[in-house]
Amino acid sequence: MSTTHEPHTTAGSHVQPPEPLTADELREMSTEDAMLAGTEADGVHIVHRRNRFPVPGTKAEKRVERAVALTFLISALGGVGFIVAFVALPYRWHLPGTPQNFRFYTPALGALLAIMLIFMGVGLVLWAKWLMPEEEAVQDRHDDPTTEQDKLMIEATLLSGLEDTGLPRRGLILKTLGLAGGAMLTVPLVALVGGMIKNPGNKFFHTQFRPNKKLFPPNGHVPIVDVDFRRIGPDDLEPGGLLTVFPGIHEDDSDGFNGVTDAASPTLLIRLHPGQKVQARKGQAGFGWPTANPEYVAFSKICTHAGCPASLYEQQTSRLLCPCHQSQFEVLKDAKPVFGPASRSLPKLPLGVEMGDDGRQYFVALDDYHEAIGPAFWNRP
Ligand code: FES
Repeated sequence: MSTTHEPHTTAGSHVQPPEPLTADELREMSTEDAMLAGTEADGVHIVHRRNRFPVPGTKAEKRVERAVALTFLISALGGVGFIVAFVALPYRWHLPGTPQNFRFYTPALGALLAIMLIFMGVGLVLWAKWLMPEEEAVQDRHDDPTTEQDKLMIEATLLSGLEDTGLPRRGLILKTLGLAGGAMLTVPLVALVGGMIKNPGNKFFHTQFRPNKKLFPPNGHVPIVDVDFRRIGPDDLEPGGLLTVFPGIHEDDSDGFNGVTDAASPTLLIRLHPGQKVQARKGQAGFGWPTANPEYVAFSKICTHAGCPASLYEQQTSRLLCPCHQSQFEVLKDAKPVFGPASRSLPKLPLGVEMGDDGRQYFVALDDYHEAIGPAFWNRP
């Protein structure tokens, strides 16, 4: 038995339910007729269906097809651009006040990702709006179990949907969509693969406070400097004072920058009030200066919760505050967390003092940090 539907024409919205078709009848029908029979049997009445380009291959259709393909191509280029930018753009941080070359790194990645996703979305919408058949349908609800006939009609509906997309005969769109889809799938992998292209070596396991005999013979102790690269000595801090310091190593990077580039190194140098005593943690008793009864201590500035600068110092309570999530570290307990989400003490830098060329005393790092900096992935015993 054939259906009462005419493909590509307007059907009435109050049609009588068609009589059930046999599986053999459905097999003999065209895909579109079987799909229409399926929609009717399922209580979905197609009240309007029109092919936007009844004659395939016209100039107008080709023009629309090229426009859709162009959006997919732009999406693909956005994805490729993201991958190239992720691997190749300069991203290194320099001391505040010095030329920065990482400034555009994140915005560039965001913009390229947006181009990829937006043009993919625009392409899909245009494809549906400009190329696929225009259709209006009204659906009834029913709860009956699925019969063999229903399954055949659903199959026909899916096949007809595939034909409606025009994919089998729209090679240009298929190729550009594949290109854009490939770029989209590759983007999440680039973070993993990109890390392998630029081998970071073991630099994540150390800071530049690590003894460096080549630069500072004979003992390798790294000088401690302030943001202007001036060496810092005990007289530079008042009692209760705090200063952010860095390793005094000029590092030439590939972009011609000469200065501190190690983002893990910012350190808080603190001078205690007379009479204040630090309860040192196990194995770190000699890390302050003077060793026997430290008046100066130095802790990593990078919060062990999520890496913000924990540099608000409350002299009255001797607490360091992290502004991001309000963690507090008790300096007199070796920067132990006493409030907030941080669960690990701020790492402590072994401090020492050496005589400079001008006869003054200056601070040096006697060794690298013995613990992980910030919310780090690595840990040392
Ligand atoms: S980053 Fe410091 S409390 Fe969260």
